[in-house]
Amino acid sequence: MHVIFIAPGYPAEMPHFVRGLASQGATVLGVSDVPVDQLPELAKRHLADYLHVPSLQDEDDVVRRVAAWSADRAIARVICMWEPGVVLAAKLRVALQVPGQSVEAAMRFRDKDLMKQHIVAAGIRAARHARAATAQEVRDAVAQVGFPAIIKPIAGAGSMDTFRVADAAELEAALAQLTHVPEVQVEEFITGEEFTFDTICIDGRIVYYNIGYYRPNPLLARSHEWISPQTLCLRDPDAPELAGGRALGEAVLKAMEFGTGFTHMEWFLTASGEAVFGEIAARPPGAHTVDLMNFVSDIDLFTGYAEAELFGTFSLQVERKYNTANIFKRAEGQGRITRIEGLAGLMQRHGAHVVHLDLLPIGAPRRDWKLTLLSDGYVVVRHPDWNTTKQIADDFGTDLRLYAS
Ligand SMILES: Nc1ncnc2c1ncn2[C@@H]1O[C@H](COP(=O)(O)OP(=O)(O)O)[C@@H](O)[C@H]1O
Ligand SMILES: [Mg+2]
Repeated sequence: MHVIFIAPGYPAEMPHFVRGLASQGATVLGVSDVPVDQLPELAKRHLADYLHVPSLQDEDDVVRRVAAWSADRAIARVICMWEPGVVLAAKLRVALQVPGQSVEAAMRFRDKDLMKQHIVAAGIRAARHARAATAQEVRDAVAQVGFPAIIKPIAGAGSMDTFRVADAAELEAALAQLTHVPEVQVEEFITGEEFTFDTICIDGRIVYYNIGYYRPNPLLARSHEWISPQTLCLRDPDAPELAGGRALGEAVLKAMEFGTGFTHMEWFLTASGEAVFGEIAARPPGAHTVDLMNFVSDIDLFTGYAEAELFGTFSLQVERKYNTANIFKRAEGQGRITRIEGLAGLMQRHGAHVVHLDLLPIGAPRRDWKLTLLSDGYVVVRHPDWNTTKQIADDFGTDLRLYAS
């Protein structure tokens, strides 16, 4: 089976999906806008061929180039798990007559307002919302949804350019910072804890699911540099207090008419126990969360997904043994990493529960914590007990310190 894979080198988990597909027997043809020698080794090793296009943003140009390049090969799937490329992948499916998500369906996953219209029409609880393209439209939309409100790009990612506004002054301050964003989504602010519902589906049937938890919520994590944000995956996604989220997730997948592939939904659990829809993407979660899901059960979802995508079957045995947590670290100070403190003591206390450690080395320049949740490194821990998992994660949050100057 020939599979076209958009953006095989980025984000970080993509080379593993290329490996998964190749290991299931697919001939994987990569397409992206970096020279082949800049692809990660793992991606290069498992790609059968590669097309370097000038820009993935120029969708019509990419469609023309890929059609010409792949003309003598029968393409079975077009896959893109990089958020900005899901509509491009759908356009390629049309051009190459390949089954899979349509352009219309992909648009619903990309455009936060279309998405919520669809969800609300299906009777699912989501924030009151409106789209706005001018400052006045934003003010009108806020008047409609009420304070506090959220303003964010209509097709955003990673909490970029996202503002919570509690009054007219904060609204005007946000507007001044949003002049470069052509269109925004304005929403009622939902107060609650933020969870995920992540699935692999085959023809709309859920064959694998995960519930994740953000500590603290992504907007807070992205607003304060001193925080070491945590992403956790729960050993017990079937817990009764999460039942509302699971039911919500199932209803959302139906309403979105999702077929086959990975999905990543975010939802709020309010103090009264109500589950409220946040957003959904037609791709896996990022920031190494697939690794976290793998570590819960000691499985390889990269190949498990590939089996579902290629053959419509899922044969992984999913026994959930651990809660897992990813702790993202941000160095103190600017420039290059000069010092890492606390690691030896933490490894002495918790070493048996650490499954992965990837900190920038001394001398490396700091990453931009606003652009990448990975920040200056991360630690993955796991434990069968939920509270112990959070305690270990907090210890890495507070006692592991990176310094830069
Ligand atoms: N209506 C809302 N109510 C409360 N918080 C919100 C709302 N919309 C967004 N947020 C906050 O902003 C974050 C980013 O928004 P989201 O819609 O997930 O966009 P993206 O992740 O694509 O940037 C969310 O995780 C949440 O913390
Ligand atoms: Mg989000």
